Amino acid sequence: MADKRVLLIVGGGIAAYKALELTRLLRKAGVGVRPILTAAGAQFVTPLSLSALAEDKVYSELFSLTDEAEMGHIELSRSADLVVVAPATADLMAKAANGLAGDLASTALLATDKPVLMAPAMNVRMWNHPATRRNLALLKADGVLFVGPDEGAMACGEYGPGRMAEPPAILEAILAALGGDARPLTGRRAIVTAGPTAEPIDPVRLITNRSSGKQGYAIAGALAALGADVTLVSGPTALAAPSGVKRVEVETARQMLAACEAALPADIAVCVAAVADWRPEAEGDRKIKKGPEGPPPIRLVENPDILATLSKSDRRPKLVVGFAAETNDVDDHARAKLAKKGCDWIVANDVSIEGTMGGDDNAIAIVTAGGIERWDRLPKGEVARRLAERMAEELRK
Ligand code: CTP
Repeated sequence: MADKRVLLIVGGGIAAYKALELTRLLRKAGVGVRPILTAAGAQFVTPLSLSALAEDKVYSELFSLTDEAEMGHIELSRSADLVVVAPATADLMAKAANGLAGDLASTALLATDKPVLMAPAMNVRMWNHPATRRNLALLKADGVLFVGPDEGAMACGEYGPGRMAEPPAILEAILAALGGDARPLTGRRAIVTAGPTAEPIDPVRLITNRSSGKQGYAIAGALAALGADVTLVSGPTALAAPSGVKRVEVETARQMLAACEAALPADIAVCVAAVADWRPEAEGDRKIKKGPEGPPPIRLVENPDILATLSKSDRRPKLVVGFAAETNDVDDHARAKLAKKGCDWIVANDVSIEGTMGGDDNAIAIVTAGGIERWDRLPKGEVARRLAERMAEELRK
């Protein structure tokens, strides 16, 4: 990507702060960034921050004598391989859809001969307004590419579609548009544990945990979609293996650990499985019968901790991620788990929220040594996609 360059138009919206992070990610990916900051955008981020991160000058005025002397605005609009508008406000979308050219940003959009990618960001009512719907349809018909918007809580206090896509998702869309590395995990190996384990009491009875396996399977699929070579070590579930993933089916925690160790070395390990903490000490090879002596005592012994074992292994993957399903004091428990298990991230979720266990949505928080980052409630597939992107980003560091 070293020879690629984007013209980044930063519009005026609260999401403009994310344009700074996007600039940082682009530079890290080796993409050149030439920023245009609209007058409204400059209300939210300073030209100095943008310029420092972009390592280039910031253009803002249409009729700037100095800028025109160095590079005319027509040339500026064509100086990049891709024009990115982030945030793309309702105003910028309307101008671009209708060919207005009253300022530098809209002029660049009208004058460019390069593909354009927009990351819309606006209030949900503005996004749903028929005028924006019309402009979106016009822009799509003109070949403009879009990433987002996401659905979620907005800075204005409302909820719905209109939040700008997160910088890693915009980066991925930019790299894809530049024809580059949309599969940043190519050549990387990942191990994902998923589903419950089943610990036999006798040939017909077992101890198990509640787990649909959906989140782990979605993560395995998302890592594979980014190019990783994924081994999914799965306890019993009703799910089909995601495409491109090698699934190893196991029942007990000990089998799960052995399958994970056999899949080493790996760059990433993600332990999503709901491993039974204990197993019956002795598994009888005969069915225990009811009898006059009443219910049989079952002595439990502790299972190996797969996450902790992988974290402490001398073949430790670079990034080890654990999950914590908690019903109370989520942050404290997650922080304690991070330390106890020796992993890099704990992805915490509050399973006391109705519909999380076995459901299709998940609201998570990523707990690292550096702090806690909370995500809004999202479909498990989207959580997986974003986590996979974050993991790819982590490996790039
Ligand atoms: N885990 C594991 N092996 C185990 C137990 C847990 O790999 N034997 C992993 C899970 O896959 C998850 C993380 O550890 O990523 C947290 O599991 P959890 O059962 O919530 O944590 P525990 O340490 O068992 O703590 P507690 O049961 O007290 O909440």
